[in-house]
Amino acid sequence: MKEKQVFIKKEAGVLMFGASAPGKVILFGEHAVVYDKLGIAAAVDIRSVAEVTENNHRRITVKDKRLDMIQQLTESEISRLKQRVDELRKEEDYESLKQMSKDDIFSPIKYIISLFVAEHGFVPFELLLRSDIPIASGLGSGSSLFASVVSALGDFYQMNLTKKEISDMTYQGDIIAHGGTPSGIDNSTVVYGGYIAFRKSEQIKILDIKQKIPIVIGDTGIGGNTGELVGNVRKLLQQNPEKKKLLDEIDNISQDSIIAIKNNSLKELGALMNKNHELLGQLGVSHSALEKLCNAALQADAFGAKMSGAGGGGIMIAVADDQKKVAEAIEKAGGKAIITNIGVEGVKKIKTDKNQVGG
Ligand code: PMV
Repeated sequence: MKEKQVFIKKEAGVLMFGASAPGKVILFGEHAVVYDKLGIAAAVDIRSVAEVTENNHRRITVKDKRLDMIQQLTESEISRLKQRVDELRKEEDYESLKQMSKDDIFSPIKYIISLFVAEHGFVPFELLLRSDIPIASGLGSGSSLFASVVSALGDFYQMNLTKKEISDMTYQGDIIAHGGTPSGIDNSTVVYGGYIAFRKSEQIKILDIKQKIPIVIGDTGIGGNTGELVGNVRKLLQQNPEKKKLLDEIDNISQDSIIAIKNNSLKELGALMNKNHELLGQLGVSHSALEKLCNAALQADAFGAKMSGAGGGGIMIAVADDQKKVAEAIEKAGGKAIITNIGVEGVKKIKTDKNQVGG
């Protein structure tokens, strides 16, 4: 065991550190952001949780309650994984990185662990993961989990990480999970919380808005393929250059939405969502199931509804006062509804209790 362990604080003989992080939704600007238009994302109050407990085995144990999976890691396994990932990143072999996370869903988390181990030495612990965020639905489930893990491990190793450092390490996990260099929207949103404005050619801006807004998420349960949909839009714009003006319209909507959110004007926000949804339809990325759920929400008096994320299935969001009514309408139309809020707090520490860990 390495001397580094002396860094770690003892609390009644048991070491417990926990953190939770929200998911994210894209509120405005998906697809248009690929062409350097403005996009707005928000932290959504569906959270993931990571809890770290010291153990006296020789291994690190990762338990994932969502997937009902357990993995035991030795020091040499962790250092081999780090070496392999660093090599692939140097070679920019993103295909192999992607394959790695397909073959082993824990690989981004193992890489994050390896970064701590490389800097502070191997200390055995148990990492328990929980999450209410549906996987692979554009809700930032990966980033959220990685941010919780980074924050909890940062505390375990007594590192006093800043938000910026947590965000950067979360991004390291995203690189493996996405097999490439993602936009940085997911890690920024789940770490800082609230609302984020992003344009490819500019730095991500954390908007100074404290408003929480009630939404309902409708999951079609149909998996859209982001790469394919982005490619389809590219083809459409090449063949019909006049459609590029749709992207400018989306940019304007994103800009207007900042004022609507600041003013807490659900009506205005809803109208902008409807408009953005319509434009995404014209870009060909909606889906009959998304149309059905959006229409159901509107008929149940939502202020507005739109697809969110890449489309071709995936999720839609609706802004509504009567969230229950909208959720029921979405379920009736065949979707899975989640009542929640956006604009919520980003990654945060949680008090954890030994009795919960590993349970
Ligand atoms: O599915 P999500 O939430 O990761 O969003 C994809 C957003 C796109 O604009 C379609 C693609 C991108 O890389 O920005």
